[in-house]
Amino acid sequence: MKPIIFDVDTGIDDAMAMAYALNSPELEVLGFTTCFGNVPVEEATRNTLTVLEKVGKQVPVYPGASQTFMRGEKDHWARHVHGEDGLGNLSNHDLISQAESQFAADFMIEKVKNRPNEITIIAVGPLTNVALAIKKAPEIIPLVKEVVVMGGAVKVPGNVNPYAEANIIADPEAAGYVLSSGLKVTLVGLDVTMETLLPKVKLDEWRATGKETAHFFADIAELYMGYYEAYYPGITGCALHDPLAVAVAIDSSFVTMESMNVTVVTEGEEVGRTVGNVEGEPKIRVCTEVEADRFLEHFLSRVI
Ligand code: BDR
Ligand code: CA
Repeated sequence: MKPIIFDVDTGIDDAMAMAYALNSPELEVLGFTTCFGNVPVEEATRNTLTVLEKVGKQVPVYPGASQTFMRGEKDHWARHVHGEDGLGNLSNHDLISQAESQFAADFMIEKVKNRPNEITIIAVGPLTNVALAIKKAPEIIPLVKEVVVMGGAVKVPGNVNPYAEANIIADPEAAGYVLSSGLKVTLVGLDVTMETLLPKVKLDEWRATGKETAHFFADIAELYMGYYEAYYPGITGCALHDPLAVAVAIDSSFVTMESMNVTVVTEGEEVGRTVGNVEGEPKIRVCTEVEADRFLEHFLSRVI
């Protein structure tokens, strides 16, 4: 089993990615760390605990960054995509579990030092927690096995504007810091995640199982699909951004990768853009193609 630290800004596709990871025997999720992103960090933490209770798993949750690496607090969220509560307006749930008191970045540092060259970080929100961890303890950089990042749009347009993807533009300085740090990063961006759509018809199949968790995921995914259908005319489904990062951590043969250097634009109209080039010594593995049908089948066989 691959030991994982899973950094989330839970979010509907984060929730599906959590269930997929927790039901995958190849992965041992040591803890979830939370970040602001789709919603403020307190809500991301609450949503993460809610999803864990819904799927009946006990994994510690470590609250992380409430503000960006260098720009202070954010004041806009993705409630139009993920619902007012970030979880399809369905998080109306009395929590019985609590988050840990240790800060996310400190948990990352401690775990990586305890298990050098073993830990994979899957990061599917802004890269703030990872940036804070390596800023505080740069000695962990060569000790992290891999960081699988859902973020960026290298050869395709962004989803927030024509240039930028949501996780990168949420904290461009953190993303730039991580991508230039020497960490072994695999970038699972919109180049591949927009190819992996969950078809709406699958929601009825989930509901037909009669399982409570299947209903929960069908209901939250349905709200998310409403956004996709409005934003991308012609689509009947939703992109499985964060679940694809989990798939790549399980088995990188789902994707084709190209080695590049990736820089992040931090100023001007194109802020948040991830720019790839192959000059010098390319260090980032950028996913550029995906076996979408094989991935979808794998995801569907595990998520519920
Ligand atoms: C990313 O942004 C968030 O809204 C999603 O959860 C995903 O991580 C997609 O651009
Ligand atoms: Ca996310």
